Amino acid sequence: MRKSPDTTPAKAAKPEDDQLFLLLRQLEKAPEASQRTIAEAVGVSLGRLNAQLRAATDAGLITVTDRQGPDRRQRFAYALTDQGHAMMQGLIQPFLSRKFAEYAALHAELTGSVGDLMPLKYRSTLMQSNLAPIPELYVSYDSAQKLKVEAAELTSHDLTPRQICDLELLMNGGFNPLKGFLGEEDYNSVVENMRLADGTLWPMPITLDVSEEFAASIEDGQDIALRDQEGVILGTMTVTDKWVPNKSREAEKVFGADDDAHPAVNYLHNVAGKVYLGGPVTGIQQPVHYDFRGRRDTPNELRAYFRKLGWRKVVAFQTRNPLHRAHQELTFRAAKEAQANLLIHPVVGMTKPGDVDHFTRVRCYEAVLDKYPQSTTTMSLLNLAMRMAGPREAVWHGLIRANHGCTHFIVGRDHAGPGKNSAGEDFYGPYDAQELYRAHQSEIGCEMVDFKHMVYVQERAQYEPADEIADKDDVTILNISGTELRRRLQEGLEIPEWFSFPEVVKELRKTKPPRSQQGFTVFFTGFSGSGKSTIANALMVKLMEMGGRPVTLLDGDIVRKNLSSELGFSKEHRDLNIRRIGYVASEITKNGGIAICAPIAPYATTRRAVREDVEQFGAFVEVHVATSLEECERRDRKGLYKLAREGKIKEFTGISDPYDVPQNPELSVETENVEVDNCAHQVILKLESMGLIAAQ
Ligand code: PPS
Repeated sequence: MRKSPDTTPAKAAKPEDDQLFLLLRQLEKAPEASQRTIAEAVGVSLGRLNAQLRAATDAGLITVTDRQGPDRRQRFAYALTDQGHAMMQGLIQPFLSRKFAEYAALHAELTGSVGDLMPLKYRSTLMQSNLAPIPELYVSYDSAQKLKVEAAELTSHDLTPRQICDLELLMNGGFNPLKGFLGEEDYNSVVENMRLADGTLWPMPITLDVSEEFAASIEDGQDIALRDQEGVILGTMTVTDKWVPNKSREAEKVFGADDDAHPAVNYLHNVAGKVYLGGPVTGIQQPVHYDFRGRRDTPNELRAYFRKLGWRKVVAFQTRNPLHRAHQELTFRAAKEAQANLLIHPVVGMTKPGDVDHFTRVRCYEAVLDKYPQSTTTMSLLNLAMRMAGPREAVWHGLIRANHGCTHFIVGRDHAGPGKNSAGEDFYGPYDAQELYRAHQSEIGCEMVDFKHMVYVQERAQYEPADEIADKDDVTILNISGTELRRRLQEGLEIPEWFSFPEVVKELRKTKPPRSQQGFTVFFTGFSGSGKSTIANALMVKLMEMGGRPVTLLDGDIVRKNLSSELGFSKEHRDLNIRRIGYVASEITKNGGIAICAPIAPYATTRRAVREDVEQFGAFVEVHVATSLEECERRDRKGLYKLAREGKIKEFTGISDPYDVPQNPELSVETENVEVDNCAHQVILKLESMGLIAAQ
């Protein structure tokens, strides 16, 4: 039972609850106002106000502090307790009801007509809960300007691309009810139970990972500025929590396995910082986007749009792939089933490494949008950083869509699937995501429209859910998998009309010309003296002889002279060196050239990072030059092994420093008793078999 303060109504006064509501609202609005001002605002005498204040204090709704004013008059400051806040929230609705009744009575008196106005309960439901504005973390424009100046003094954290995506959705309400990056208690609870510490459903840890050095420079309670990669302040965060997470546990619980083959687990272990910071965020401004501005909407912008168009039910379609005919059919059916309008809501933040870039995809979506009946469908871009967490990700996506004003959400086969694990098996079952979603549907607040795998039935010239085809032995079922589509694009083969729209295929072909016209990277790795440089040089000459694409050699020694002259051979320096090579190789690949790299590159995680950098733009061909350490030492062309054995060179790969042997290189070449020319030829054959060079 809540304690009720003694607020006996004065004559002709408003009901006691209304009096209390007005008082609490006034104290919250102006906590340091004089008693006279408060009494006037609430509409009571000073004596009555004092009685009310005493009662509210006794009931634990407010606290009062004495302040000595500059004019030596005693002044008070009032603050609402949590209980006071809760009480005020509870009193809003009855207060409005009575106001409305008063208004309706006045209306009837003036017009002589009763009942013209709808009762309040109907009026308030006109703005459905999915369409009413949701809280954002942004402050007003004026406060943001002030805060920006103040934040210039704060310690800065430069956000990573993933953190920028997370911050945008935190600030604009896409991750409502989160108020900032998770603190330790919420994090543990999300990891273990998919819930925040207060029990609210939230499946994904949204964490601010930083380096140990940065974390050591931050104290609890300190405000930090959160900046984008150009240094623009997007928001501030009050650091309430700082801890070293158990990343293996996070991987097991959130992604289902502590296996680096999962892109998010790889990110967790090999990209994210070691320490997490948590705390509430104050939003200053949205991250700047120069592309497709008109297609990006905050949750509140989408809600307003749906309100304006009178869309009461909206089904969202999440995608990270170009849309083909099967998707169109699936979304049509979903909208029909849910009797809803359709929101195509593609992710343009971070998706799975190797996905089609979002520029191409958006051009494809725009082409497909014309195929939907006008005014039933819209498209908006979502700057989400996906984690590919399958079932948990589906629940997360549903919550995000509910925040964006959607009432329904399509969950298809293998939703947000990360591909195969390191044993070559799927991480999740194809319908695990649908099951988990179904179990939490009412809490998510966005109904699931589940869909099975859609296939094309040739005889009926239409798409149908694979498991609903009763006569499947009598009809021809056609389907082109994602892998097959990529192969056809890579090899410039036909993509049939029944599969996709000509406009989409044209866009994809523009971005992904046949592999033999794309850029690529050949990345040699092996011990010093293994023969990397020699084979790389021979390969370069052979490729130049063929012509067609510019070839650049990034040999270990050349790079160390021109790009990394200040670096040594510690793990940190080697990683930096290899990441630089990877960056240059990815740029060359992006621009249609051939990059040949030949560093030792002893660490598997760094090689993988380079692979991911390059594979955004073209093929990455890892070649292990598998000359044994004994043979390299026997050859000792540069005399370095001798010096290393004598301890005159420290951290020497193979002698006093590690080398991770590649587990799955595209090619492994033996150099002992094999001519260099032959080794280079093996690489050429590999490139040919991968379609990277056209057969001569
Ligand atoms: S790394 O680990 O990939 O950054 O190394 P990389 O840039 O390829 O440089 C290797 C060349 O530097 C010489 N060198 C050493 N190698 C390994 N360990 C130590 N401590 C070291 N110190 C100098 C060596 O000549 C390597 O050249 P290659 O062409 O591999 O023989």
